[in-house]
Amino acid sequence: MTTTEILTGRVLSFTRSPFEAAPEAGAEIHEAVAVADGKVAGLGSAATLRAAHPQAPVTDHGDRLILAGFVDAHAHYPQAAIIASWGKRLIDWLNTYTFPEEMRFADPDYAAEIAARYLDLTAAHGTTTMCSFCTIHPESVEALFAQAQARGQRVTAGKTCMDRNAPEGLRDTVQSAHDDSKALLERWHGVDRLSYAITPRFSPTSTPEQLEALGALWAAHPDCLMQTHLSEQTDEIAWVRSLYPQARDYLDTYEAHGLLGPRGLYGHAIHLEPRERDRLRETGAALVHCPTSNTFIGSGLFDMAGLMAEGQRVGLATDTGGGSSFSMLRTMAAAYEIGQLRGTALHPAQLLWLATCGAAQALHLGDRIGNIAVGMEADLVVLDLGSTPAIAQRAERAEDLWEAVFPTIMMGDDRAVAEVRIGGRRV
Ligand code: GUN
Ligand code: ZN
Repeated sequence: MTTTEILTGRVLSFTRSPFEAAPEAGAEIHEAVAVADGKVAGLGSAATLRAAHPQAPVTDHGDRLILAGFVDAHAHYPQAAIIASWGKRLIDWLNTYTFPEEMRFADPDYAAEIAARYLDLTAAHGTTTMCSFCTIHPESVEALFAQAQARGQRVTAGKTCMDRNAPEGLRDTVQSAHDDSKALLERWHGVDRLSYAITPRFSPTSTPEQLEALGALWAAHPDCLMQTHLSEQTDEIAWVRSLYPQARDYLDTYEAHGLLGPRGLYGHAIHLEPRERDRLRETGAALVHCPTSNTFIGSGLFDMAGLMAEGQRVGLATDTGGGSSFSMLRTMAAAYEIGQLRGTALHPAQLLWLATCGAAQALHLGDRIGNIAVGMEADLVVLDLGSTPAIAQRAERAEDLWEAVFPTIMMGDDRAVAEVRIGGRRV
């Protein structure tokens, strides 16, 4: 039997990208949303939806903001327990904190414990979908998918592949990376709400032969995503140059091995050459901005305004645990701050769009999640725009919705998350 529920509040829905025209123009506010069978069944005035569903229970959220659940387009769930580790830049940070922790995921019980903890923490922060790296261990992928499946959650993930420049115990091979990834994608891709991303960590930790094998796997399974890292820190770029002397640039190390395509996701993408920008745009690949990570590890300032103006596909992400927060609110705040340092003030509508629609479109899931529209999956977050005294006293002065939500973007955390729905069900 179908049970319909109605939520009333200030329901935010995007009709187009706020980067295309006046930022507010693409945003609509409705009074109510109806949810049935895990999907959005109606959107409009409270009176209309009550009349259409007279038996439906109504949850009144007053002036709270109801929007699509946050989508985190790039995260490393195995790094949840080492988030906020002090004092290192990328390569040292990987060797000091990340690799020893990722080693522990050979133990399926540990992987299951962290996967559950990570999904609990992210849900508490209003994140309902993520695209996550796992570790080299197939068990780490099994753990995350099993947890997400039990929660009815839409999650994309993949086995991280590395066959060099990683410690003993954290390296696979050309053959095992290909075969384990293939077995995992055959087992999980398209099952319930799960999908697989072929996942070479980044060019320095793969031999050209491994990149080639993963490129061939992607060609055989082109509906999978492919996720990796690109041009995060200048030292890393110099290292890539020395490891791949024949490559034209960093992106070319992927392109030459069949790892550039419209379903490719390239995390960070800060220090790009003009040729790389052209190829990414022509291909329709997605760049994933990870602002708290970029400031925390000291990577640099992503060119959001320039990349958006040239028509790139861009998503937003935490990059947990190089990123310093599980919260997409904090992530939007950091994106705003980086924009300011580059001379562009991102509008609150643009920030909210990036954390929902933009990230969902980067994952090629924009027709199912990331927005509130009839027929889309009912992954929702309800934000209290006065969740702390400091936020409330500023929001009180607000003259419109954008001014009311901006203090929560800049100062909010999990206390702002009043309710979360995954597939219509309250978490
Ligand atoms: N580059 C390669 N691996 C990683 C990682 O785990 N985190 C970040 N931030 N960058 C990377
Ligand atoms: Zn990353």
